[in-house]
Amino acid sequence: MMYSFIDDAGTFTVNDPLSYQLYFPLTDKDGSLLSAVCPNLAGDIKKDNDRFLTPPASVPDTRYNLLCRRDFFLKTEGAVIRASYPYRDKLEAGFLYHRLIKQAHHLQIEVLNFIPFDLAVEVMQVKIANKSGKTVTITPTSFVPLFGRGEKNLRDHRHVSSLLNRIDLDTCGIFLRPTMVFDEKGHRENKDNYFVLGYEGTGKPPVGQFPTLDYFCGSSDLISPDAIEKDTAPVTKKAVDFDGKEACAAFRFRTREVAPQEELTYCLVMGIEEDRGRARRMFRKLDSPEKVAKKLEETKQYWRRYLSAIKFDFRDRDFNNWLLWVRLQPTLRKLFGCSFLPHFDYGKGGRGWRDLWQDALTLLLTEPDKAAALIFNNFKGVRLDGSNATIVTADGEFIADRNKISRVWMDHGVWPYLTLREYLHQTGNARFLLQETEYFRDQHLKRAKEIDHSFAQQDYVLRTRNKKIYRGSILEHVLIQMLVAFFNVGQHNAIRLENADWNDGLDMASEKGESATFSFMYAHNLRDVCFFLRQLQKEGDSVLLLKEIALLLDRIHTPVDYKSAKRKQERLNEYLEAAERTAGEKIRVKLDDLIDDLQHKSAHLFKSLSRRQFLKRGFFNGYYDNKSKAVEGNVKGGVRMRLESQVFAIMSGGASDRQIRSTWNAINKYLRDKRLGGFRLNTDFKALYMDLGRAFGFAYGEKENGAFFDHMAVMLANALYKRGFIREGSEVMHSIYAMATSSRARIYPMIPEYFNNQGRGLYLYLTGSASWYAYTLMKEVLGIKFILGRIVFAPKLMSVNFRRDSIEVSFNVRGKAIKATYIKKGRASGACALTQGFLNGRELPVDTVGLTIREQDLKEKHNTVMLYLS
Ligand code: G1P
Repeated sequence: MMYSFIDDAGTFTVNDPLSYQLYFPLTDKDGSLLSAVCPNLAGDIKKDNDRFLTPPASVPDTRYNLLCRRDFFLKTEGAVIRASYPYRDKLEAGFLYHRLIKQAHHLQIEVLNFIPFDLAVEVMQVKIANKSGKTVTITPTSFVPLFGRGEKNLRDHRHVSSLLNRIDLDTCGIFLRPTMVFDEKGHRENKDNYFVLGYEGTGKPPVGQFPTLDYFCGSSDLISPDAIEKDTAPVTKKAVDFDGKEACAAFRFRTREVAPQEELTYCLVMGIEEDRGRARRMFRKLDSPEKVAKKLEETKQYWRRYLSAIKFDFRDRDFNNWLLWVRLQPTLRKLFGCSFLPHFDYGKGGRGWRDLWQDALTLLLTEPDKAAALIFNNFKGVRLDGSNATIVTADGEFIADRNKISRVWMDHGVWPYLTLREYLHQTGNARFLLQETEYFRDQHLKRAKEIDHSFAQQDYVLRTRNKKIYRGSILEHVLIQMLVAFFNVGQHNAIRLENADWNDGLDMASEKGESATFSFMYAHNLRDVCFFLRQLQKEGDSVLLLKEIALLLDRIHTPVDYKSAKRKQERLNEYLEAAERTAGEKIRVKLDDLIDDLQHKSAHLFKSLSRRQFLKRGFFNGYYDNKSKAVEGNVKGGVRMRLESQVFAIMSGGASDRQIRSTWNAINKYLRDKRLGGFRLNTDFKALYMDLGRAFGFAYGEKENGAFFDHMAVMLANALYKRGFIREGSEVMHSIYAMATSSRARIYPMIPEYFNNQGRGLYLYLTGSASWYAYTLMKEVLGIKFILGRIVFAPKLMSVNFRRDSIEVSFNVRGKAIKATYIKKGRASGACALTQGFLNGRELPVDTVGLTIREQDLKEKHNTVMLYLS
């Protein structure tokens, strides 16, 4: 571990942090301002893709590009100290602040960066303390590069867009307000102010400033700017010359003598606001060291309170603290989307469809009320052809694809149901399935195979051919996703891969590719939903569904020969044609018939997959490439194996116990890395694979080509636990923690997206693996499940999970607090069995399912559950 926790609230310190080249996220509770900050003060500050206060910073920029750094210069007798350089640095970081402590030339310099939980500004406070016995004279100058426009202007009209810059100098700082938003598709008037305001001590303004990069650097550059080296005079008034130039917020503060032990404070407040009055008001909330200290304290408290919705205590400070950071990760992804930290320099903001649903898994545990609304809203993104909008903006709006690429990921229909089922179990409210909502409609038709050039609607809501908005039940939405997939098969009767599945890197087999991997999950969903349909039967014997869906419920009407991929495709086309012209008419479908149809489909899929895809080598083939060839098994003298193919065969329930045992052996043989201890995504195919996807263009061991991809690893653990392979599941779970905290990982506490061949963690914070880790820990390891509103404790703990002899977890269910304590009796090794359980001191029976608590049993506001295991 390269960090040490210094308390029980996740605060950690790192010595010489610059050597790790990491970034740290800062944001407020609503994600209104998003920052990344590194130990060299690099990173960027933005609101969204169109509004960057500082130049956008990708990973190489954070290290090599001086224009992507905040800075603070101190000129002393004989030396220039630059806060972005290391001086025996120590980092202290917590929820959610970044504080560097430097020892430079008898001065201790502290640089604190944070975004207050309730204000959309980044605060950078610099404290300078004279630790020597002598008086030191300093001339301080702060520096923040200003960008004031959107990410695309980094290359597209960068110079031209700087000509739009208009700079206003304020007593306390600078407002950059470009005249326009430069966009050749339609220029707009710009209304945003990009501002930095600063003060020293108790609110004294800077003595002057250097408002443009040219003025700051003079005849030199950012390595030795004239403003510092040659003491160029700062200005206090606006000169016309400054307009139309690349801007910066560089403030000169008074030259001061710092007496021994004296401490001076400087502060910058940075943000993006339309209303300057509002910007000034925010500044006034932070215009003294006392106010900053108070805000920082409130910010820490906010995040701590936020995380306390679930409390894990494994009696292991490092693990508990690490878990706090992991638990924050899904929230960070909710706020940052997948585009706004230095590794994540793709996309245009917002989150992808599958990320959205998976992050909801933990949100269901931490913010159940918000999650319910989110789930309901998300279903509006489904199209009638079973595909969906791909991007969801921060305010919950759906966008087909801003890059104008028509793409369909075949796994997208799987995730909504998996999250929905958690919600249904948690609330016990199967009737939620009957609530109605809209569908998404845009120019893409027939799973992006056709474009409707006449489409001109602005609201992207599906209308019938009579132009009426159509609404269908949530059940209908999920059924469409499953049923369309079921019929959409390739030559081998597995569901077509289309433009990729979970693995975004398998994106070059759209014609003939098939994903047996996710076919397993569709088979699972088709069967699983029947459980809830039976619940609905308690209230009625039929449901209303869109008339055209009857075509896909073929068992009820005209059965299709499932053995024939061609027949299935024909039926699908019939449906797609009909659905495009729907009049929105609904028919009644008997629940018995519906259940029968879905079960039939599921059984057919499971049977054909588990027979056909289980290879002689003893593991599953998950894919066919664009030449219709099986991807896995013995190929070109080597063994090709993918982890996804195994995970979903197991998780879906499709793999038999015998197949799981054999697959687990193969995983250990081919994918477990003996040196680093983790599980790789695939074996080395040792070739480009133009018939399968871009992943094989990456160096082996990086990202989707054979890295230790945590999302898949944790889903493997989940699948193994789910199927009762507890020891195996716990080995996989442990491998993730071990890799993430190993000194090789070189990361702060968190789960990264992946580890490379060196064991280094990459793609920090914004990964779906964190949500799955917390979810698996809660639902499988601690075994806290919900079954139709009842809480069931069915722990799958191994004795190694007990760092001491007990584990505690606290959470809330519908306003009632529950504190559960797991106590290990005796010296059992291996898997521990639940032997006895008590609720508020009263013993409850433990049966084969576990210990069940009904809602009416939770009589107290605060309830205690004691679980004894041996
Ligand atoms: C990322 C994407 C996820 C995708 C995965 C594999 O994983 O966010 O949607 O399925 O790559 O291509 P993550 O960073 O969430 O772990």
